[in-house]
Amino acid sequence: MPARSLDQIVSLSKRRGFVFPGSAAYGGLGSFWDYGPLGAELMRNVKDAWWKAMTWDRDDIEGVDCAILMNRKVWQHSGHEATFSDPLVDNKTTKKRYRADHLLEAQPDAVLEKLFLLYHKSQIETGKYTKEQALEWYPTREAKLALIRQAFCAAKDRFGIYNDLKVIDPATGAPGDWTAPRSFNLMFQTHVGPVEAAPGTEEELASRVYLRPETAQGIFMNFKNVLDSSRRKLPFGIAQIGKAFRNEITPGNFTFRTREFEQMELEFFIKPPQFLREGEKTDEQWHAEWVDARYRWWISLGIDTSRLRKRAQDKSELAHYAKATTDLEYLFPGSLGWGEVEGVANRTDFDLSAHSREVPEADLKRLKLEANKDSVTTLDYFDTEAKARYIPWVIEPSAGATRAALTFLCEAYHEEMVKEPPQAEIEALKTEIDAVIKNADKKKKDAEKEKDPAQRKHDPVAISAFQAALAEAASRLPASLMEIDTMLEDHAGAQNLEPVKKLKPKVNKLAEDCVRVVLKLHPKLAPVKVAVFPLARNKPELVDIAQRVSRELRHFCKAIYDDSAGIGKLYRRQDEIGTPLCVTVDHQTLEDNMVTVRDRDTMDQVRISLEQLPHEIRRRLQLH
Ligand code: GAP
Repeated sequence: MPARSLDQIVSLSKRRGFVFPGSAAYGGLGSFWDYGPLGAELMRNVKDAWWKAMTWDRDDIEGVDCAILMNRKVWQHSGHEATFSDPLVDNKTTKKRYRADHLLEAQPDAVLEKLFLLYHKSQIETGKYTKEQALEWYPTREAKLALIRQAFCAAKDRFGIYNDLKVIDPATGAPGDWTAPRSFNLMFQTHVGPVEAAPGTEEELASRVYLRPETAQGIFMNFKNVLDSSRRKLPFGIAQIGKAFRNEITPGNFTFRTREFEQMELEFFIKPPQFLREGEKTDEQWHAEWVDARYRWWISLGIDTSRLRKRAQDKSELAHYAKATTDLEYLFPGSLGWGEVEGVANRTDFDLSAHSREVPEADLKRLKLEANKDSVTTLDYFDTEAKARYIPWVIEPSAGATRAALTFLCEAYHEEMVKEPPQAEIEALKTEIDAVIKNADKKKKDAEKEKDPAQRKHDPVAISAFQAALAEAASRLPASLMEIDTMLEDHAGAQNLEPVKKLKPKVNKLAEDCVRVVLKLHPKLAPVKVAVFPLARNKPELVDIAQRVSRELRHFCKAIYDDSAGIGKLYRRQDEIGTPLCVTVDHQTLEDNMVTVRDRDTMDQVRISLEQLPHEIRRRLQLH
């Protein structure tokens, strides 16, 4: 079974060096993360897999790598400056801030239904249809939500609705005292050159630039350059991987939603429907084909079909110019649930038209665009067969690379009980856990006595949450051994509780002895491909061979040498970071020139000759 909660991934990431909080020495910076040695390898592998699938395995896609900062006019004409914003609301009591749509999504069914009926109120009251009919037309929670999102998210004029209908603050579970929704642009601003002018002045605006919120616009800017320099004909695509920045209102869920992230985007340019020749694929066919191709990519790298779904956006979610968008969603662990990992959009001719100087009046009207007097070019294409010039349409598969890395970690994470812990030890552990919970009660009461919250040594709310989580996990022992281990280390309510400090090493030892944490990452994604060990580090003959083997393997893959612990522990460490193969050099090797190769997933061990080893490793890792 893959990860049950994101905490398992957060804990593993910190423990083994996948992801760390950014700016840690200064207490971090809201939702910015640094990728450690293993995370950097994983990210590179995810991006390489995408790049290879797009630009090597096909002959109709070119790659580019564009500047992050672009002329501000790009973002004005793409629509981002005016509309790339989220509606946000604040609870005046708790000072918590939410994206209006996220707040609505977090509402219990009863509140949702009240909002839903409010939307239909006048029609029901004037007899146009009945309450029962409305409920029948929108039978599921998702259908109601889609409607409510559209109606109420940016409802600035409906100030008071959130209060009248007692919209719940998810942080407290109680109705909030809400402000009206306000628009908040998500683009980070900076300036090119030294500027000291006040915001909004002519001088300031002239030098203002934005950190790109998507990589796509760089591709559109280079449509003509790539077309002309590579002599492409439609259909063809341009791919790009790179950083994107969004000043998200509610970042969170670890690296799922961050303010700095990486995207992997393809803009696939096709003929508009009216210029298709007999037998050529339509925009709808290309869209369906890309949805399938992208779905297969995720599956080919190990995502189980039961946790990946295609979800066609309904009309209320679609941008006005988009003909269709299908999201690929992954079932993330815990409360996160289904979340978008990639969107495949049929964006018609909107993007290239938006940046073009010469666009027919009728097309501007259809696309709800103003004539672009800033552009010095028209991003069109000369069709030599049709002897016509036109602006191509585009299908856009857009995935997050950082979100993909998190997805693969969640899918790959497994805990396996390799040894049943002795019953007596489990009973003793339960008794100690009871004592920890009781002792925490005392600390909680002490903290509550202190009137000034700033002076409190402990946070009573966090302690209560810790007590509840620990008691629940203890009732599931021994299966929950690793979970408790993680909780004692990372739970906010466990910090600075003396008995926890004593309990930690015992739980840790038992978990290490009995539970194997294994990342069943696809070999292509695994940060380390092979680890080589000598059976005994005090035997120079074995050490020499093992070091030589790892040097040889390093010619074609990430291979490491390790002799810092006993063989069992070395295997466990590699399992935990997803290393597919381990090679052990033992005394027998000196006689028969063979080594033991152990498979991470099956734990099977086979003897292979040193001569055959590189070939066998390549074969098993599916390296071509
Ligand atoms: N050009 C289209 C575009 O940018 P999007 O749905 O906003 O579309 C595409 O983003 C993908 O980028 C998402 O499916 C997600 O994987 C990733 N993404 C978007 N915002 C993100 C964020 N704040 N943190 C991490 N990944 C994000």
